[in-house]
Amino acid sequence: MCGIVGYTGYRQCTPILLEGLKSLEYRGYDSSGIAVLENDSLHVEKAEGRLAVLADRLQEGVLLPGKTGIGHTRWATHGKPSDENAHPHVSENGKIAVVHNGIIENYRKLKEELIGKGYHFVSDTDTEIFAHLLDYYFRGNILEAIYKMMRKVNGAYALGILCDEMPGTVIAVKKDSPLVVGLGKDENFIASDVPAILKHTRTVFYPEDGEIVILRPDSVEVYGKDGERIEKEVEAVAWDASAAEKGGYPHFMMKEMMEQPRAMADTILPRLAGSVAQPEISGLSEAFLRNVDKIYIVACGSAYHVGVAAKYILEEMTGKNVEPDLASEFRYRVPILTEHSLVIIISQSGETADSIAAMREAKRRGAHVLSIVNVLGSTIAKESDDVLYTWAGPEIAVATTKAYSAQLCAVYVLALYIAEILGTINLEEAERFAAALRALPEKAEELLSEHSKIQYAASRLSSSHNIFFIGRNLEFAAAMEGSLKLKEISYIHSEAYAAGELKHGTISLIEEGTPVVALMTSGALTDKMRSNIREVKARGAFVLALADVDVEIGEEADVVLRIPKTHHLLRTSLAVLPLQLLAYYVALVRGCDIDKPRNLAKSVTVE
Ligand code: M6R
Repeated sequence: MCGIVGYTGYRQCTPILLEGLKSLEYRGYDSSGIAVLENDSLHVEKAEGRLAVLADRLQEGVLLPGKTGIGHTRWATHGKPSDENAHPHVSENGKIAVVHNGIIENYRKLKEELIGKGYHFVSDTDTEIFAHLLDYYFRGNILEAIYKMMRKVNGAYALGILCDEMPGTVIAVKKDSPLVVGLGKDENFIASDVPAILKHTRTVFYPEDGEIVILRPDSVEVYGKDGERIEKEVEAVAWDASAAEKGGYPHFMMKEMMEQPRAMADTILPRLAGSVAQPEISGLSEAFLRNVDKIYIVACGSAYHVGVAAKYILEEMTGKNVEPDLASEFRYRVPILTEHSLVIIISQSGETADSIAAMREAKRRGAHVLSIVNVLGSTIAKESDDVLYTWAGPEIAVATTKAYSAQLCAVYVLALYIAEILGTINLEEAERFAAALRALPEKAEELLSEHSKIQYAASRLSSSHNIFFIGRNLEFAAAMEGSLKLKEISYIHSEAYAAGELKHGTISLIEEGTPVVALMTSGALTDKMRSNIREVKARGAFVLALADVDVEIGEEADVVLRIPKTHHLLRTSLAVLPLQLLAYYVALVRGCDIDKPRNLAKSVTVE
């Protein structure tokens, strides 16, 4: 978590840094700070609270002049949110300032060592170590100091550094945390993520772990692990600046929900030739797939919910044994992995710490790793054997919506691809599935255009203390996602249950007025769900049912939302859309900060 930015060039840097930090606030927003190097003197300003507090304090930049600077927006890991714990952290003699995204594992030991050498700490953060350690090693050569520092520190970091002996220079280095370098004309940038610099440049490169970048207004030098100069290949970012702006919507979450039909279409359509799936992956040969003994799907949060849905989809279409697992659990258990195992890592950011660790563990144990990732050039995309990108575009709201939908679409394409290679789907069924996939974005559009009933339901639910989501099979996966969406942005406690499981304990919590959101499938499980709904209704529940258009539902439900007909395996993609809107409107009624819910950050780069 946390976001860093850096600028060196011919313009005043503070407004540019503030603007960059604004687009990184999704990574952390409990405090922020900026350091500016004006000739050879460092000036720092920091503030607890949202970025607006810092911007106000600096009168939008007027009070901190200079053309070289670094900035930070924080998500607290070590030490509570406060002015003291906000970054940048500065060495005692005021020579070196550092902003950090990541976490240092051996910081206690290093802190003791530095205290033993006479250093005084003013914050509770792990980051302050960097400022003192660099000061300790700095003897006029910053590269040498950084190499020595890197040998001492264990953990993850992307650092922006200023040194008062290097006017006009920003120094950056990374290990296991994201960093992008943006190249402009007579100005250069660093950032944790592309949206922070998109307004100024779309020409970028991504440093590798251990590489040190020295940026000046007219040059960017990169040094490898052994001090050798490295030439980096630059890339052009396809997104334009408007992709990372609200575009007239009140919140990024609403904008991103409305972008789902496009994200679905971009992820599906280029990969379908008639009824044949053609994802751009090369590592899944027929021989490998025939021998696959097990497919693990490993992810966190919403991406894990995609994994739960993928189990039903892949098992039915490919006949392979599929096990979804939470990355934070998978990495510490002993999964049975062989060279015949396929591990699918799903991640929007491609930088989630637990997912990265799980991927590395799977590779170490000889499994083939395929990742489904949204951010190009991210760690997971770079390190996995095959990547299937989701084309959702930049997602800014902390609560994922369009990336989740695009991940599901990538799973559909993958399932069709594997089924066609293995011959577990016949031509007629493949054609039916592909046609339903092509029609999915349009159905999503239709569903996303109807808000009034959802707003009514949201007003009924907004003062509840507990809300339950129930469904079976794929609708259970959608229920899990609906429940997470609701709790993360509205702060109402909610639980998702496989509907048949409710009566094994949880039904005791249902009382007069308790809201139950029931996902009503058509087909074999309709009557089972109807019975479950009657069970909660009989105990006084307020039932909001999401039902296929052809499912008859009467007195059992208080409010009914309809889902257009689609292939039964795609239904979860549609069912989740009203649940996202429901969470949004409940949060809106409750006056919550929808795009930046408390205690959360978009990209969880710490364990
Ligand atoms: O970037 P990732 O997809 O790896 O992130 C995983 C989770 O942190 C993420 O899906 C989280 O649960 C969402 N913010 C929920 O809306």
